[in-house]
Amino acid sequence: MKPLRIALTKGRLESKTLSLFEKIGYDCSAARNKGRKLILPIGGGEFEVVLAKAADVITYVEYGVCDLGIVGKDTIMEKGGNFFEVLDLGFGRCKFALAGPKSTDFFGGYSSKTIASKYPHVAGNYFESKAMDVKIIKIEGSVELAPLLGLSDAIVDIVETGSTLKENGLEVIETICDISARLIVNSASMKLRKAEIESLSGKMELACKEKI
Ligand code: PRP
Repeated sequence: MKPLRIALTKGRLESKTLSLFEKIGYDCSAARNKGRKLILPIGGGEFEVVLAKAADVITYVEYGVCDLGIVGKDTIMEKGGNFFEVLDLGFGRCKFALAGPKSTDFFGGYSSKTIASKYPHVAGNYFESKAMDVKIIKIEGSVELAPLLGLSDAIVDIVETGSTLKENGLEVIETICDISARLIVNSASMKLRKAEIESLSGKMELACKEKI
C-alpha cells in the first residue's frame, strides 16, 4: 500500500510536528535534513510528509492528494473547507485578538472603524457577532504596520508572545479565541484508510499529551 501522505505546514509548526513523530518513534532524519526537498519520507517510508504553506495544506487535503494535514486553527477558521478536524495537537498555541494603539477607546464613539487583517473572514465574523459595521482591509504580513501608518484603527491578528504588539506600541483590545495546531483528514481517506489513520491519530494523541 502507498504511504499515507501528510501535508505539514512549513515554519512554526514544522519542527514541533517532527518532534511529535520522533516521540512516537518514527525516524524523521530525512525531514530534519531536507535541504530544498518538499516531499520527504518519515517512519522508514511508512508515511510521506509534504511541506506546504498553511492554506495549501487545506487545499491538498480537501482535494485528496494528501490524506492528512497539520495546520493551525487560524487557517481553518479563515479558509474553512470540506475535511475532518480530528485532533487538537496542543502546540502552536496562540490567540486571535483585536489589537490597536495603546490606550485608545476603540469601542467608544460613533465613527466607523477600519480594520487591517491577514484574516478578513475571521475579522468579518467577529465584528458581525458584535453587530458592528467595519471596513476590513486585507494585509499579507506584518499587519501591525497598518495602524502605525494610519491605514487602520486596529488589527485582527495572531498574538503569540505579544512582543510584536508591545515593541510597536500596540496592545490587545479584546481576545477573540484560542488557536492551536490541528490534525485534519481528507473525507475519502477517512473511509478508505480508516484503520491506518486511526492508528496514527491515536499515537499522535497519546504523544502530544506528554510535553514535547
Ligand atoms: C505573526 C503575527 C504577528 C506575530 C505575533 O506573524 O501575524 O505579527 O506573529 O507573534 P508575537 O506575539 O510572538 O510577537 P508572522 O511572524 O507569522 O509573520 P507575518 O506577519 O509576516 O505573517
